[in-house]
Amino acid sequence: MTVCVVGSGAREHALALALARSEDVVVAPGNPGTEGLSAQGHRISRSDLDPAAIEAELFVVGPEQPLVDGLGDRLRALGRAVLGPGADGARLEGSKAFMKQLCAEAGVPTARFGVFDEYEPARMFLRSLPGPYVVKTDGLAAGKGVLVTENLGEALADVEAKLAGRSFGEAGRKVVIEEALAGPELSLLVLTDGRRVVPLPPAQDHKRLADHDEGPNTGGMGAYSPVPVAGPAVVDAVVESIVEPALARLRRLGIDYRGVLYAGCMLTESGPQLLEFNVRFGDPEAEVVLACLGGDVAAALRHAASGHARDLEPAPARAALCVVLAAAGYPESPRAGDPIEELDRAGTVEGVSVLHAGTSRGRDGVLRTAGGRVLAVTATAAGLAEARRRAYEAVELVGFEGMQFRRDIGAAAAGAAADERGRR
Ligand code: AMP
Ligand code: GLY
Repeated sequence: MTVCVVGSGAREHALALALARSEDVVVAPGNPGTEGLSAQGHRISRSDLDPAAIEAELFVVGPEQPLVDGLGDRLRALGRAVLGPGADGARLEGSKAFMKQLCAEAGVPTARFGVFDEYEPARMFLRSLPGPYVVKTDGLAAGKGVLVTENLGEALADVEAKLAGRSFGEAGRKVVIEEALAGPELSLLVLTDGRRVVPLPPAQDHKRLADHDEGPNTGGMGAYSPVPVAGPAVVDAVVESIVEPALARLRRLGIDYRGVLYAGCMLTESGPQLLEFNVRFGDPEAEVVLACLGGDVAAALRHAASGHARDLEPAPARAALCVVLAAAGYPESPRAGDPIEELDRAGTVEGVSVLHAGTSRGRDGVLRTAGGRVLAVTATAAGLAEARRRAYEAVELVGFEGMQFRRDIGAAAAGAAADERGRR
């Protein structure tokens, strides 16, 4: 079989490597990393064609925008198997107002909220909340449309700028305002055919730009899996209280959801609460989740896409950790064109894959930065502490002018995992 992966980032590079353990892969459009032969001898190539013109038995759509725009429907109309919902199911991510409404109808635990397209009622609602305040664009904003602040004045100014279309264009003309929740965050991704739910290894993302969760929200600066605070009981609770009721509600609405459903949760004192649904693999979560899977990943994705999701083959105990290297100026205005040094050397560290996120190779053959997130250095090992050590060893080797990265990805979790082992 040939599998087509749609997208161009490190998530798609990670998908290509996982799928090419057993199949040939075409990435559309891909990036300079998604070319060559996999370790198992399968071909990974790039294509600039529209995915509908690509001959493949399975399509895996990486980013949310094409799903919201109906690529899943277009491909299914051509008789293709697609891992990714149609435009109707993709509204779970494309409209936070739709998602919150569905949660309310399905009894999914989530923060108390209001939806507003006018300033005055939004202001009244904000004033009625105890704070901190959470203001989200209704529409897609590449993970950057959420403000969490203790400062009411800042929240009001943010609402005003969003509603006026100044900060996020049309995506912000409607806002969701929420009560703030507290607790550790968890990304639980499941494969589903709309009924059966196959949980993937839990992951945690680090969304803020700087160490100690400071600085602005980004698309994600690193991730790791597994997550010490999310043992099997927590995974079961998320599946039973969040994922299954949401899928049941989608079925009642006549929506055939086949793909990855990503529940971004906060583990509060009163149990897991849903922050957001994504309708695809997360980035950088995919980098670590896929690295932790054993068995035939392509077969698992094909089963879900064709309506027969099956349990995964058990994998050997494995951990993975990913550090994102971002361009100078990210997230506001990333600078492109900085030459990237010593990438190949970083890839020789044991267990490390240097995944391309935003790179381009010029006619002179030099690899340069070409996006906000540039590389995702991903390491696997038997345990989290060793995966972390390997990832940072590789990070020290690679570089480009103005490179930004966090030094604390998985730090607390790797420490907790080591303590756990010490006690046993
Ligand atoms: P979202 O894109 O909805 O996942 O939001 C991005 C980030 O904002 C999350 O990962 C959380 O860190 C934070 N966040 C979102 N909603 C809330 C909330 N209700 N309370 C506290 N933090 C939140
Ligand atoms: N890492 C968060 C996302 O993919 O939206």
